[in-house]
Amino acid sequence: MGSYVICGGNKLDGSIKIESAKNSVLALIAGAVVCDKKVVIRDCPKINDVLSMLEILTYLGVEYNFNNGDLEIDSRDIKGYFVPKELTKKLRSSTYFLGALLSKFGMAEISFPGGCDIGKRPIDLHLSALKCLGFSVDTDDELISCKRTFYKDSKVIFPIKSVGATINVILACVKGRNRVTMYNCAKEPEIKDLADFLNSMGAKIWGAGTSRIVIQGVKELSSTIYKPIADRIELGTYLLAGALVGGNIQFCNVQEENINILLNKIINNSCKMWVKNDIMKVKFTGSKKGFNLRTAPFPGFPTDLQPQTVTYLSLCRGEHIVKETLFENRFSYVKELRKFGAEIIDNGDHVRVIGVDCLSGARVCANDLRGGAALVLAGVVANGETVIDGVEHIERGYLDMPNKLKSLGVNVKN
Ligand code: UD1
Repeated sequence: MGSYVICGGNKLDGSIKIESAKNSVLALIAGAVVCDKKVVIRDCPKINDVLSMLEILTYLGVEYNFNNGDLEIDSRDIKGYFVPKELTKKLRSSTYFLGALLSKFGMAEISFPGGCDIGKRPIDLHLSALKCLGFSVDTDDELISCKRTFYKDSKVIFPIKSVGATINVILACVKGRNRVTMYNCAKEPEIKDLADFLNSMGAKIWGAGTSRIVIQGVKELSSTIYKPIADRIELGTYLLAGALVGGNIQFCNVQEENINILLNKIINNSCKMWVKNDIMKVKFTGSKKGFNLRTAPFPGFPTDLQPQTVTYLSLCRGEHIVKETLFENRFSYVKELRKFGAEIIDNGDHVRVIGVDCLSGARVCANDLRGGAALVLAGVVANGETVIDGVEHIERGYLDMPNKLKSLGVNVKN
C-alpha cells in the first residue's frame, strides 16, 4: 500500500496540464472494441482504471499500444465475448464491455462490476434497457449473460438518469439494424464525448448531451484518431486546492463550460480567472466563502467533487449543508477528515460542515478515489505533516498527483 507525505501550507504557483477525462476514456476504450479497425485515443492518461480496462482488452485478445501518450487499440483479432470476475471487479466501467461486446458479437457474458465503495451500485437500469431492446438477459450471483434475440426499433425510457446505463445502451446499439430512441438520458459531457468518438467512426448517434438520444445502428465502424475532452473533475480538484491555499495556477487543456457549476460557486469569493482557448489562468485570493450544496446529475453539482468541496467548506466561516443525492455511502472519508480537526457532522445523506480556522496534519487512509482526493486537499492546506495511506485508490483516477502538486510548490513525497 503506497502513501503520500505532505507538508502543507504553501501557496500554489505554477502551471499544470489537465488530463483527458477519466470517465470518457474508460467508455472510449470499451467503444474501441466495437470497431474492427485500429482506433487511436489521443492523450490517454495511464491511470490505474485505464490499466484495468487494458487488462480486459488483453484477456479478450485485443491488441493495444501506447505511443507518446496516445493509446492505439486494434480489436481485429478479438477472441471472445466473456469477461471474468477477477477483471470486472476492479472497476465499475468494466460493465461497458457488456454493451460493446453485444454490438460486436450479438452476445456477451461478463461478471458483475466492482468499483469505489460508495454504496449500492446496481445495474438494473442497464439490464432492463437491454431487455427492452430485444436482448435476452440472464443473471446469476456472478454472471450476466446477454444475447440479441431479435432486432426491433424501440424506445427506452430511463426511470432515473444514469451515466452508465446511457453509455451501455449507446454501445449496445451503435452497430446493428435498429433505431433506438432513449429518453431521460444522463447529460454528462463524457456521454457526448463517447457519441462524438463513435460518430467519428461512422456511427449515427444524435442528441448526446441532451436527455433524448437517437441511435441508428450501422453495419460497421471505421478507424479514427480521437482526442477526448478534458477531465472536469481533475480540474475541479485542483481549483479547490488553489481556493484553499491561494496562489496563481495556469491550467492547460480545459473546457471551462463543463465546470461552470463549481466556478460559479467559488469565482466571486476565492478567485479571479481568465480563459483563452483551452488555457485557464486563475489567481486565488486565499479568501474563502462557503455555500450549501446538493449533488445532482449534470449540469448539477457533480458527486465526484463533493468530498473535495467538503474539505474546502471545512475552512469556510459558518455552517454549510452538503447533501448527497446519488450515492448512499459517499461520506466515508468524513471520519478521516475529522482527524485534521475538521468539524463535520454526518447525518447519513447529508453532512453539516462547521468552518474551523485551520486544519492540522494527520495520518489518514484513503478508502475511495474522490474521498482520497479530499484528504490530499486537507494535507495541502493543513499545518504540519500529513501521511495519506491507501493512495492506490487516488491513483485510479489522478495521474501523477504528487508530481503535479510538487510542480505547484507543494512539499509532497510519495
Ligand atoms: C458514473 C461515473 C461516476 C459518477 C457517477 C455519477 C463513470 C465510470 N463513473 O458512475 O464517476 O460518480 O456517474 O455522476 O463514468 N443506478 C441504479 N441502477 C442502475 C444504474 C444506476 O439505481 O442500473 C443509480 C445509482 O445507484 C446512482 C444513480 O443511479 O444512485 C446514478 O448512477 P450512474 O449515473 O449510473 O453512475 P455510474 O455510471 O455508476
